Amino acid sequence: MRLLVCGGAGFIGSDFVRRMLAKHDDLEVVCFDTLTYAGNLDNLRDVATDPRYSFVRGDICERAAVEAAAEGVDAIVNFAAETHVDRSIAEPEAFLHTDILGTHTLLEVVRARGIGRMVQVSTDEVYGSIDVGAFRETDLIKPSSPYSASKAGGDLQVLAYHTTYGVPVMITRGSNTYGPYQYPEKLIPLFVTNALEGGKLPLYGDGMNVRDWLHVDDHCDGIEFVLFNGVPGEVYNIGGGNERTNREITAIIIDELGLTPDVISWVSDRPGHDRRYALDCGKMADAGWTPKVDFEAGLRDTIRWYRDNEWWWSKIKHSTGEFADWRRRWYDERA
Ligand code: NAD
Ligand code: DAU
Repeated sequence: MRLLVCGGAGFIGSDFVRRMLAKHDDLEVVCFDTLTYAGNLDNLRDVATDPRYSFVRGDICERAAVEAAAEGVDAIVNFAAETHVDRSIAEPEAFLHTDILGTHTLLEVVRARGIGRMVQVSTDEVYGSIDVGAFRETDLIKPSSPYSASKAGGDLQVLAYHTTYGVPVMITRGSNTYGPYQYPEKLIPLFVTNALEGGKLPLYGDGMNVRDWLHVDDHCDGIEFVLFNGVPGEVYNIGGGNERTNREITAIIIDELGLTPDVISWVSDRPGHDRRYALDCGKMADAGWTPKVDFEAGLRDTIRWYRDNEWWWSKIKHSTGEFADWRRRWYDERA
C-alpha cells in the first residue's frame, strides 16, 4: 500500500508517519507538506533514511503539486491545516485558504484519480462548546472560532463530495491532543517549555475551561482504525475520555517540574473562548476501538520528553524569531 500523508511534518501527522512505517512492513509513505512555521522535518528524522519513506514539499491548495505527489497512491490521510485557535483570531485568512480550499483540492484529486480512500482529520471544535453532556457525530456543528469554522467548512466539503460524487472519504473528529513534538504555542508544550526556561504560565480567564485530552499515539491509532475499517461518508469521534480544566493541567505541570503556583500569570481571556468540549465516542467503541494511554502517566511522560529534548523546542522558540514575533503580536493586540 502507498499512502499520501498531507501535513505529515506537523505534530500529529509526524506521529502517524512514524507509526505507520513501524507497524506495516509493506507500506510506503509519501509525506506531503508545505512546511509552514508548524511543519518541521526534525519531527521525521527517525524515518528520514527509511527507503519506504519520501518527502515532497508542496501546498495542498495547489492541484498540480497534489496530483504529482498522489501518483500511484492507494489512500490519502489529510492532517494539513492551520491549527492554532489564537492565530485564527489574530490572522484568519490562511485558515480559510488551507482548511477549506486545501481540503477541496484534495477531494478533487481523489475524485479525478479514483483514489481508493481518504481520511479527513478534523476536530471536536467543529461542534462548539457544550455545558453538559457530549456531542455525537450526528449533532449539528456550531463552530466558534475562525479556526473551527474553517475546519467545519472542510468537513462540509467532504460530506458533499461523498453525497454528490461518491468520493470514498471518512472524517475523524479528535479531541485535544498532547504528546512529544507539539509546536510550543499550544497549552501543554507552551507551559512546560516556559516553566523549563524559568518563565510564566499565562492562564486565560478563570482557567476553568475544560478540554478532553487524548494522547497523540491514541489519536493516530484511532485514525489508523478508521483508515482500515471506516465506512465512506461516515464521521467518527475520537476522544480520550479525560476531561480536565486548564487549572488541573497546569497543576500537574507545576508538580512534575517541582515548581510552585506563583509561576502562573492570570491573563485576559481568549475572545470567543469555548468553555467545554466533550465527545460521545460510543460509535468508535461499538466498532471495536478505545483509547489506551493512561492520562496522568501520558502527561507526565510528555512533560519529561520536553525536559529531555530541549534541542527540539529551543530552536523553534529562539532561532528564527517567528515564535517571539507571534507571541508579541498576540499580546500587543489584546493589551
Ligand atoms: P500542526 O499545526 O502541528 O501541523 C500542521 C501541518 O500541516 C504542518 O506540518 C504544516 O506545515 C502543514 N500544512 C499547513 N498548511 C499546509 C498546506 N497548505 N499544504 C501542506 N501542508 C500544510 O497541526 P496538528 O496539531 O498536528 O494537527 C493536525 C490535524 O489534526 C489538523 O487538521 C488539526 O485540525 C487536527 N486536530 C488537531 C488536534 C490537536 O489537539 N492538535 C486535535 C484534533 C484535530
Ligand atoms: O479540541 C481540539 C483542538 O485542540 C484542535 O482542533 C486544535 O488544533 C488545537 O490547537 C486545540 O485547540 P485549543 O484551543 O483547545 O488548544 P490550546 O492549546 O490553544 O488551548 C487549550 C486550552 O488552554 C484553551 O482553553 C485555552 C487555554 N490556554 C491556551 C494557551 C495557548 C491558556 O489558558 N493559555 C495559553 O497560553
